[in-house]
Amino acid sequence: DQKQDYANIILTQLESIETLNSLEIAKSLSINHQDLVGCLLQLESANYIKTEGQKQDQLILTNEGNTILNSQSGEYEIYQKIPQEGISMLDLQKLFCIEQVQKVKQEQGEKKEKQIDDPKKKQFDLGFGNAKKMGYIKMDKGLISKVANDLPDKIKLELSQLNTIKLGSQQAKLLIERKLAMISTIKYFEIKKGIKYANKFREQYAALTTEQLLNGEWKECDYKSINLNAEGEKISMGNLHPLLKVRKQFSQILIGLGFEEMPTNQFVESSFWNFDALFQPQKHPARDAHDTFFCSDPELSEEVDPNLRDKVKSMHQTGGVGSIGYQYEWSNEEARKNILRTHTTAVSSKMLYRIAQLYKEKGYFPKKYFSIDKVFRNETLDATHLAEFHQIEGIVIDKNASLGQLMGIIREFFRQIGINKLWFKPTYNPYTEPSMEIYGYHPVLKKKVEIGNSGVFRPEMLAPLGIPEDVNVIAWGLGLERPTMIYYDIRDIRTMVGPEVKVETVRQNAFCVFESK
Ligand code: PHE
Repeated sequence: DQKQDYANIILTQLESIETLNSLEIAKSLSINHQDLVGCLLQLESANYIKTEGQKQDQLILTNEGNTILNSQSGEYEIYQKIPQEGISMLDLQKLFCIEQVQKVKQEQGEKKEKQIDDPKKKQFDLGFGNAKKMGYIKMDKGLISKVANDLPDKIKLELSQLNTIKLGSQQAKLLIERKLAMISTIKYFEIKKGIKYANKFREQYAALTTEQLLNGEWKECDYKSINLNAEGEKISMGNLHPLLKVRKQFSQILIGLGFEEMPTNQFVESSFWNFDALFQPQKHPARDAHDTFFCSDPELSEEVDPNLRDKVKSMHQTGGVGSIGYQYEWSNEEARKNILRTHTTAVSSKMLYRIAQLYKEKGYFPKKYFSIDKVFRNETLDATHLAEFHQIEGIVIDKNASLGQLMGIIREFFRQIGINKLWFKPTYNPYTEPSMEIYGYHPVLKKKVEIGNSGVFRPEMLAPLGIPEDVNVIAWGLGLERPTMIYYDIRDIRTMVGPEVKVETVRQNAFCVFESK
């Protein structure tokens, strides 16, 4: 191609000339200097040549200079219009269509100054002056005539040979004064042979191919040297989702506070563990199809331990441990309905049952558990609600557990994620008494926002599970999405999961490191 041709011309010239000037090469090839630069860079990177950047002041044409070069100079135009026998000033001006001006000038002497501003007249005067100065014309008793015939247009000639004019010369000064030329600094290269100089450019291959090896072509080929400083290609690999980064940080805090993680790997749960074991009546509005996703296949879960089932049933129907229960007909079929768990407290209730079983073998021991995983609710989706989201839950099983301890743990937990101002507000949960909503101060919104829910599990819940009467269980729960959105400045929860997720953002999100205060 053309670049290759230019390259070979340069290399051939270097055979006999030690130093080349890129400006001259561009000129001799009649190409733009800029177009040559690409070719030079290629040759230099292959070490065929060595270049050194230089600066040089140069005379170049102005727009006006260019116009003259393409037609003729003003003085020459006047010179040419003058007839052999000579001409008067008035007639000459007529030839240049400035008759009108002249008349006005004569009739109304006082308006003279104004008329002289006419650009056509001005240009004529300039050209006329120059024509006299340059010896094209002479004036004799009002008659203007040519000094000689067939004089050349000197200025046009000079402009056409601009590169032969020395920068400091009188000629240059004159052209600059007349604004036909100006000085401009240009950058160019001095070119010398490089360490791999050859008089012909050979394409350099980036890699050795099997083919070149097999047919022996490699012996003739040039290869690009390896750039050991080049950055490697970015490895495409898995990245942690922002929710997972925040989850990791929360679990770290909870582990630091002595909590152990509960197994949460079961999205489908029976209503029994999600509701009944939590002393939520079967007519509870949260159970109806608006909030809960019910499963159709299998619709019902396997039976739980009949002993446990009967205890839960009688607690709902008639009560116990000082309670009269809900006084209704408890349905086992309702309890067996499979659902997508609506809260992680379903995990906690199951765990409490398991702990109670262990107590029978090993006796009492205190325990602190947490879980962070997905829950499901049939919500209308909007910028802050999804039908599947995550809950963080903590429970403390301890004979000495108290409401005060619950508030203390919650305060410490939130302190570690940088939230110090907390408020507790009484609320109602079927499975805790007392129950407290947790409010935190939102530094950006500058107001209290609900950040969690908590309480002391009721004896009506704990007794059927087999937790001894003198053992208390305190618990709290909160969402994972809200803090994640605040931390990563995510405005719409719907962009956090599913097809709306921007993979690039997930890749670039920093790790979550909460600052405790
Ligand atoms: N399960 C409750 C919810 O989904 C949170 C909670 C957990 C409340 C533990 C009290 C105790 O909002």
